[in-house]
Amino acid sequence: MTYQPSTHPDQLSPDTVVVAAGRPARGHDAPVNPPIVLSSTYVGTGNVVDGDRAYGRYSNPTWDPLEDALSQLEGATLPGLVFSSGMAAVSAGLSLVPAGGVLVMPTHSYQGALVMAQELANRGLFSLRTVDIANTDEVIAALTGSGEKAADMLWLESPTNPMLEVADLHVLCRSAQAVGAIVVTDNTFSTPLVQKPLELGSDIVLHSVTKYLAGHSDVILGALVTSSAELRERLLHHRSIHGAIAGPFEAWLALRGMRTLALRIERSQASAVELANRLDAHDGVERVRFPGLASDPGHVRAQAQMNGFGSILCIEVAGGPDAADAVVDALRLWTPATSLGGVESLIERRRRHANEPDSVPANLLRLSVGIENLEDLWADLDQALGLALRGSADGAAREA
Ligand SMILES: Cc1ncc(COP(=O)(O)O)c(C=O)c1O
Repeated sequence: MTYQPSTHPDQLSPDTVVVAAGRPARGHDAPVNPPIVLSSTYVGTGNVVDGDRAYGRYSNPTWDPLEDALSQLEGATLPGLVFSSGMAAVSAGLSLVPAGGVLVMPTHSYQGALVMAQELANRGLFSLRTVDIANTDEVIAALTGSGEKAADMLWLESPTNPMLEVADLHVLCRSAQAVGAIVVTDNTFSTPLVQKPLELGSDIVLHSVTKYLAGHSDVILGALVTSSAELRERLLHHRSIHGAIAGPFEAWLALRGMRTLALRIERSQASAVELANRLDAHDGVERVRFPGLASDPGHVRAQAQMNGFGSILCIEVAGGPDAADAVVDALRLWTPATSLGGVESLIERRRRHANEPDSVPANLLRLSVGIENLEDLWADLDQALGLALRGSADGAAREA
């Protein structure tokens, strides 16, 4: 049975697209869901050495519905490309920087992407300029080079992981295009339901599908989406030759998870706003970082370019890193684990990772708000922060 890209005559809204996209062609007894195709090669005919699909490293019918759905959601004109992980997609994206070129990247990009870029730069493949992505003037200066070579690629992530800085995507995409730089935007935190980087001028959108899109913390997968035939061809070539391809089962699970994306985002975004406001007023919290707070430096920008504020928030815990660890240890509902975007709420102190830059506060906890009952989430945070606060006060009294 062959999958056919959807040909809906109507302009469907994104919360319908997540449900309707990537379904098999309708027909008597046709399955409602796309099948999983497990085949490493495809039948060629006659003198043609290979069929159109040729070999399982180039193509798999199970990828197609997911790639079509991602393309529709991001507003692209070409199918997306799925990869074995978000980092495999990062690797393909970075392969577009020419030898001897210049890459501009946020200081607080996802640390894995930053480590990869730094390692490639250390090998002399290109030079890396890291910038405060919320500081538009600083980014434009890095793009133009201020007398040095202009940039070949601008890497965007907004809000950044984990500092939640908000970039002015439209202005930065325009500035990058003015110097001929390719723009790649990591849209993992927002998903296409919250932010559409292609519409704001980005050339390529990147996802760790592992997070919100798959949504159940049971899949590792990545994706790139572009409307440029030339860029897509180069990325497809990279995937085929470097071999970081998605397993059919993972691709199937990701599309299955995406069916509920709109409901999950609606619920977790609403809870994140409420939790951010309550945490902001809590004695155990020195600072909340969340673009949904009116006091947040990224609030106005986020309002202009996002449909909501996402459901990741960060808190800096009063009493320092030990108090932050005590909060994590005292939680009973929130799960202490890295990653984000699943149905279950996760929390972690980011600086426990050796690669996290020193500019990330040591007492910063990143919270990925899931879809549990809001009051249950709050009660757990409140009791854990209270315990940590009492622990810090007892420690200070003993020292006095
Ligand atoms: C913003 C962002 N981009 C990319 C990645 C890498 O994705 P993956 O873990 O699927 O390789 C992550 C992972 O945490 C991430 O948070």
